[in-house]
Amino acid sequence: MTMTIEKFINGIPKAELHVHIEGTFEPELMFKIAQRNNIKIKFKSVEELRKAYDFNNLQEFLDIYYDGTSVLIHEQDFYDMTWAYIEKLHSQNVIHAEIFFDPQTHTDRGIQFSTVITGIHKALINAEKEFGMSAKLIMCFLRHLDEEQAFQTLEHSLAYKDWIEAVGLDSSEVGHPPSKFQRVFKKAQDEGFLTVAHAGEEGPPEYVWEAIDLLNVARIDHGNRALEDDALVQLLAQKQIPLTVCPLSNLKLRVVDKLKNHPLKRMMNNNLLVTINSDDPAYFGGHLNENYIKLAKALYLTKGDIYLLAKNSFNASFLSDAEKLNYIKQVDDYQKQS
Ligand code: ADE
Ligand code: ZN
Repeated sequence: MTMTIEKFINGIPKAELHVHIEGTFEPELMFKIAQRNNIKIKFKSVEELRKAYDFNNLQEFLDIYYDGTSVLIHEQDFYDMTWAYIEKLHSQNVIHAEIFFDPQTHTDRGIQFSTVITGIHKALINAEKEFGMSAKLIMCFLRHLDEEQAFQTLEHSLAYKDWIEAVGLDSSEVGHPPSKFQRVFKKAQDEGFLTVAHAGEEGPPEYVWEAIDLLNVARIDHGNRALEDDALVQLLAQKQIPLTVCPLSNLKLRVVDKLKNHPLKRMMNNNLLVTINSDDPAYFGGHLNENYIKLAKALYLTKGDIYLLAKNSFNASFLSDAEKLNYIKQVDDYQKQS
């Protein structure tokens, strides 16, 4: 019996480590919530909105993505958005997720920090109860805003420390190097948070160095441009600092021109600890399994590669060693029986 690569990918237990909850917000749900909150959307229909999802770079995407969040007002809205994503994960055999949220996108519109995080958190608790799925939250600072605003956000988060595993850094990369947030990240670490940062998506390898040296990150989000610097590749390999790579995001935001030219296989050949992720699945044409499948087809990945990538997704996670072992056993069992 030979299983197709597609079927193998669909069934393999895996973790998602790089997804923005606001990026999972599907147009259908956006329109539904807009209606119940009496908010007008710029676009006439779901179809028209989807047509606008055509981007030349990160900034063009971010402008539409931040706009889409304007319909989220109540705790229930954040719950519904998160729950819809959890159901999708469950349908794709994703059994653990580490999820970004951007509180500043909401607090800057007058929504309370507590409203945002409570809605999201309740959905994650229900994911555990209904599906036995584990999840962790990563709070991102918007790097196009200033240090002071990031400090204020960190201050807000302290009352919810138990619900947040790590802090991260996202939004417009070029012109906003990690060094801008060195002091905020130091305070976050003193408060007990782990750290991650988007780096090397559009920004240069120097930003990846800064994320490691100045922000002490446990993982790099994206990291594509690290490959331009041999010494950096060597360090990432030697320290096994994970890169959370997002193939369909890279394609849609023109970080790569075609999936055939995606650097994932080169990263694997350089012994980097890489994982496949969806970033903003509602905007980039696919959830986690579609990212695996489309990339596998473009790069001729083998079942052995997929097996390694699925194991990497747990090894690169913020789960405890015992939890990692337990999840990786599930990957092994799947591989043996397929
Ligand atoms: N926010 C949501 N998706 C992002 C990405 N790919 N890069 C930076 N910030 C983001
Ligand atoms: Zn991202």
